[in-house]
Amino acid sequence: MEFNAPAGTNLFDQAKVVGKSTPRIDGPLKVSGLAPYAFERHDVAENQAYGWVVGSGIAKGRIASMDVSEAKAAPGVIAIVTSPDVEPLGKGMMCYAPLFGGHEITHYHQAIACVVAETFEQARAAAALIRTEYETGDGAFDFPAAKTGAVLSDDPETFGDFDAAFPKAPVQIDSTYTTPAETHAMMEPHATIAAWEGDKLTLWTANQMIAWSKTAIAKILGIDAANVRLDSPYVGGGFGGKLWVRADAVLAALGAKAAGRPVKIALQRPMIANNTTHRQGTIQRLRIGAESNGKITAIAHENWSYNVKGGDGEAATAQTKKLYAGDNRLIAEYCARLDLPEGNAMRAPGEAPGHLGLEVAMDELAIALDMCPIELRILNEPDAVPGNPEKPFSDRNLVRCLRKGAERFGWSKRAAPATRREGRWLIGMGVAAGYRGSPTTESAARVKLLDGRIVVETDMTDIGTGSYTIIAQTAAETMGVPLSAVTVELGDSDFSASAGSGGQWGASSSTAGVYAACVNLRRQVGDKLGFNGDTATFADGKIIADNKRFDLADAGHLSAEDSASFGSSQKDHDVGTYAAHFCEVAVDAYTGETRLRRMLSVCDAGRILNPLSARSQVIGAMVMSVGMALMEELVVDKRHGLFINHDLAGYEVPVHADTPQQDVIFLDTLDEVVGPLKAKGVGELGICGPGAAIANAIYNATGIRVRDYPLTLDKYL
Ligand code: MOS
Repeated sequence: MEFNAPAGTNLFDQAKVVGKSTPRIDGPLKVSGLAPYAFERHDVAENQAYGWVVGSGIAKGRIASMDVSEAKAAPGVIAIVTSPDVEPLGKGMMCYAPLFGGHEITHYHQAIACVVAETFEQARAAAALIRTEYETGDGAFDFPAAKTGAVLSDDPETFGDFDAAFPKAPVQIDSTYTTPAETHAMMEPHATIAAWEGDKLTLWTANQMIAWSKTAIAKILGIDAANVRLDSPYVGGGFGGKLWVRADAVLAALGAKAAGRPVKIALQRPMIANNTTHRQGTIQRLRIGAESNGKITAIAHENWSYNVKGGDGEAATAQTKKLYAGDNRLIAEYCARLDLPEGNAMRAPGEAPGHLGLEVAMDELAIALDMCPIELRILNEPDAVPGNPEKPFSDRNLVRCLRKGAERFGWSKRAAPATRREGRWLIGMGVAAGYRGSPTTESAARVKLLDGRIVVETDMTDIGTGSYTIIAQTAAETMGVPLSAVTVELGDSDFSASAGSGGQWGASSSTAGVYAACVNLRRQVGDKLGFNGDTATFADGKIIADNKRFDLADAGHLSAEDSASFGSSQKDHDVGTYAAHFCEVAVDAYTGETRLRRMLSVCDAGRILNPLSARSQVIGAMVMSVGMALMEELVVDKRHGLFINHDLAGYEVPVHADTPQQDVIFLDTLDEVVGPLKAKGVGELGICGPGAAIANAIYNATGIRVRDYPLTLDKYL
């Protein structure tokens, strides 16, 4: 079923189930420990052995030799798979560095061996007995030093003449911001159980994108995709780190083959930062020129980042293409080549650090203009995509977000910089706007009717986001049954291929796919019972058609499959989500320590399918923003080329005490273009901007502007 704008009035506009705050249907399983995560699937395959992954001790060079004789003789060892004995695997399969195989080492903690043993402890002990000799090569690990060699990743986006307009602007800002590398730090590590039955491979794994990853694992291992099954019903967080197959899946498969029995692997926590992907650091130069009334005349955002060969940098400029008007524009992305681990998607890749540049530069501009930063943003609200007047926004309510937030947060009480003090605490408020795209992508589902009950099957994943619940709500609404009559099965590659969880496209795309399958099922019910399923009313387990009543249960057993695809209206409009973020901080006048007091995010993301789970999404994203602003940083050892603080002891993330009060407001909006439910994603919107609001609040408190993230106390002394 193809969906094109405008959606018009539909059953969701009178919804009884969709749009209501609904506790997660998987919640009781999760809080009672009964939702099995990949490593806990003890019952799916008998005789599971344990795999331990060995990571390279150098960042660049070659394996000269590996001696596994002692390890092989260690107690409990069943098999050892070593990199030099396998052709390089995985490069180009949605990753840029090989996942395993060969002699070449391209990054620290690249997987070089997997020891399979009867117990976890035996595998770990034996792994320590492997002797590896390396030929160490020269690598480039210093991002600021490599910046001069960076090349454009794409043609710069230019409109008007920035170079001519900027020097003429009466008020100018020219600031450079740096953001560090970051790691996903999800609760559940990458984990897989692999089992072979003849040529058939099953992976019980933690993965965001089942259909992509099924294709990828088949290509990586050189087997037929029809012989591969992935199952991922529960995922303990992904944040982009589980969009692809990683070494745990590849080595569980190879280990299981070598051992002749199922093998389970959880990637060890200290391996994750260097073995898998990370969010790359950025260096962002923002130049903004304005008239003395605040109208922006020229805006340039140049961003430098890095990656391994073949990969792009962290593209921090996307929001700058959308947020503010201004005729003369220059937006450019440069990428340097480094020998650090591969950089790749982490929650709102690009925009998350991009707001830490643009939205602080806007604050600096407001101060230079002696203007309220909210009024400055409202004054520069564009009518259509800047530089592209032919492209309207599908639905954009940023101004409403800003005004509503200002009122709710008490913005009028904001004082001049460094003027509000309570004892030793300097108090400040900050604001930032937020933008994140809301793409949709094809998504299929199968819906079964079983005597009045509904079963939904799709390979969509729930990475902690609430997919189970919003899918159940969609099916209940469309089929006219209570939520309790719906069962949702997710994450199995034998089910219809969904959009998966990424880029905050999951909610709108997967529910559209379920809706399409339900429409198909309604038609089948009508054909069987003798009415037109498209025009009948389905409610409370009954159907009213042609002034007659039917029982849904009378249709017996039926099954329908369909997919949602999204038509040209998506291309004719800019479909995005918007937010206004507010923050109040207290900064210790003597130690420079920042303590958050309050945070508020006002979100504009179309219909909110489930305000309860959406709120949780935004709150979680706000917490990650606190990390980005104040504490998170993968520290690069520039001599040896690794992230040195590669575990949760050395990589600091926020805890509850760091985020005492968070508030979320959703505007009551509908996006007629995005799809049949008129709903957009929010999971990544919430990490786009709150960090900048924190930075701006610290400036308001202290009068000191630090442009180098994270904003740790030492930088204020
Ligand atoms: Mo997201 S970074 O596409 O999981």
